[in-house]
Amino acid sequence: MERTAVVTDSPCAIQIRGLSKTYKTGFWFTPKVTHALKTVQLDVYENQAFGLMGLNGAGKTTLIKLVLGLLRPTAGSVAVLGGNISQRGVRQRIGYLPELPYFSKQHTGRELLGYFGSLHGLAGSALQHRVDEILDLVRMRSAAGLKVSGYSKGMLQRIGIGQALIGKPRLLICDEPMSGLDPVGYKEMRDIFIDLKKAGTTLFLNTHILDEVERVCDRVGILHEGVLKEVVPISKILESSVPVDYWIDVDGAEAAKLSGMPFQETVRNNGGVQVSGLVLAETLALLTARKAQVKGVRPLSSQVEAYFLKAIGAQAHLNRPIGGRRP
Ligand SMILES: Nc1ncnc2c1ncn2[C@@H]1O[C@H](COP(=O)(O)OP(=O)(O)OP(=O)(O)O)[C@@H](O)[C@H]1O
Ligand SMILES: [Mg+2]
Repeated sequence: MERTAVVTDSPCAIQIRGLSKTYKTGFWFTPKVTHALKTVQLDVYENQAFGLMGLNGAGKTTLIKLVLGLLRPTAGSVAVLGGNISQRGVRQRIGYLPELPYFSKQHTGRELLGYFGSLHGLAGSALQHRVDEILDLVRMRSAAGLKVSGYSKGMLQRIGIGQALIGKPRLLICDEPMSGLDPVGYKEMRDIFIDLKKAGTTLFLNTHILDEVERVCDRVGILHEGVLKEVVPISKILESSVPVDYWIDVDGAEAAKLSGMPFQETVRNNGGVQVSGLVLAETLALLTARKAQVKGVRPLSSQVEAYFLKAIGAQAHLNRPIGGRRP
């Protein structure tokens, strides 16, 4: 496992030191305190894609807002692109897709992109050219003249990515970029990220879609209940021996042959059994010994998902031996 504050030759796009955020809500007689981030240390290197994984409420959006200066930290510091987010020159080099992008509904997609382009100093034919480029990139050329009020969630997300990219940012920060996209949009967006990375853009992606992390990111951080549990290169995760779950497809009619095995209820109901990779061979041997017809075996999760679940301590059941009790 890589430590969170490694010393490296690569320049840092984002350098986070001792970052904490506490939200205080409620009334004086029923105060509520949420420790959303707890002393986070993190380096995000330039020209790399970094993925921040975490469950709902882990603190991912809070961390992004602190990096962007949209929230004030309770403690700690953030340096971005070698400076401070309060500097205009630093902000100009950052593109940001918020978790819930909101746009004025009475404007068209083209008008909105034009507006965001003008904020980056573009004007005239250079602005029109860049808007067209972005519309093509996010596949919104045909709907560019429609008002945003008529856009679907996925179309809004595409315009959201477009506005984040219009100023050719050196650092692109996206909070749940795949949210609302259909499978085609999802693949297109993934390809856009891969192309951006090749062109030297630094990417910071918040996500709980683990497949996206695997295909796009060079390093990932695992955030759980405000604590950055690990920062690890994706190659290490893919090489790791964390077992994934498997589904063994067994004909429902074979259920009787499985009596006494710990999975018989699952078999009766769904025509299969779910086992950890740790006990896959053992289970298949048992099924063969009982002459049960196995129709197929397939992994139920990716290596990244299994690693993530283990890191946040949600994987104890995977290591349970056959016949063992649930923890
Ligand atoms: N403005 C706020 N006021 C009070 N508490 C907040 C506020 N924003 C976030 N929180 C709390 O801080 C914690 C972290 O929230 P955050 O939105 O950063 O999580 P997240 O990882 O982005 O979750 P999700 O995946 O659902 O978007 C949660 O417990 C949340 O309830
Ligand atoms: Mg969030």
